[in-house]
Amino acid sequence: MRGNVSRLLGEFDPELPLERASTIPSSWYTAPEVYQLERDVVFAQTWQIVGRRDQVAQPGQYLTADIAGEPILVIRGDDGTLRGFFNVCRHRAARLCTTECGTVTKLRCHYHGWTYDLRGQLRGVPEFDGVDNFRREENGLPPIAVAEWGPFVGVHLTPPRQPLADFIAPLRLWAENEQPFDGLKWYARKTYDLACNWKVYVDNYLDGGYHVNTVHPALADSLDYSHYQTTCRGYTVVQSAPTKPAPGDVGRTRTGRAAYWWLYPNFMINSYAGVMDTNWVLPLGVDRCRVIFDFYFAENLPDDFRQQSIAVAEQVQAEDIGVCEEVQRNLHSRSYTTGRFSVKRENGGYHFHQLLGRQLQAPTQAEFSSPI
Ligand code: FES
Ligand SMILES: [Fe+2]
Repeated sequence: MRGNVSRLLGEFDPELPLERASTIPSSWYTAPEVYQLERDVVFAQTWQIVGRRDQVAQPGQYLTADIAGEPILVIRGDDGTLRGFFNVCRHRAARLCTTECGTVTKLRCHYHGWTYDLRGQLRGVPEFDGVDNFRREENGLPPIAVAEWGPFVGVHLTPPRQPLADFIAPLRLWAENEQPFDGLKWYARKTYDLACNWKVYVDNYLDGGYHVNTVHPALADSLDYSHYQTTCRGYTVVQSAPTKPAPGDVGRTRTGRAAYWWLYPNFMINSYAGVMDTNWVLPLGVDRCRVIFDFYFAENLPDDFRQQSIAVAEQVQAEDIGVCEEVQRNLHSRSYTTGRFSVKRENGGYHFHQLLGRQLQAPTQAEFSSPI
């Protein structure tokens, strides 16, 4: 198993200049052992956005998430502190919270009723008298790092090498200087399950607008493609373009500067004037992923505008799902192993492959760094 992974990892060189580079090989999208390695190395060792701050604004509010098979719980304590835990009971590993979000006064496991306080300390252990060498204080919930940024909450499943604020630094500056989150409020969430590896979805997102004219004809009407720019910095890519007047729902809801922000490895923010949505790409297996969209709007925008805007996003998503699932099927073809990059358009996609290749190939995570 290990030898096979090493061989597959060795088939990609992340240090070539874009002009000479090829994509990661197709096996990285189809091999279960690469997926297993990504769970341990990528998803457990990067900051992961797991939800929204408004879900955990008040004491006792919690949110749950599944990060590449790892169940996570984030909860606001009575003291106002946000804490992260694995959503796994110390008794027999059942879940402590069984819904996407909610409010509790304590964490009570639904299986045998063990209870933990909001700081993760074990408090109630029914019918456990006479158990030798068992101390409640040693059976609390192990904490994980949690941090807040703008409207988002992030966690890090292993001790982080850097604070979230540093990991996202270029996006933080973009938010502060170009497109602030101020005045945007969460409105709706939609969830899509796709029959493709999570990286196929990310690749499609990061192709610098290369597929916009062919796959998204309605959206293309509103984007000034000739001024589409892609900027790669650290663990982020920002693609942006001016919008131009267009007919219909697209023209009404896609105005101002279009910006598509990506945070390694799996989080995206799409913004226009008064309109923002986030895409959170969650691996469900080597050939399946879930994409969760959260839609935000400026508070003064009317309901029909919001519905039109969501309909535009859903149309774009349907078009993207079609090509992503087709690509996943064809990545199994014996005719295909790697592809080349458009130097003019696809620097963002190569930046992603460089980050991923470097992280998977790094002998230790301390030696993993971003290309720029
Ligand atoms: S698994 Fe939680 S109380 Fe038994
Ligand atoms: Fe697309």
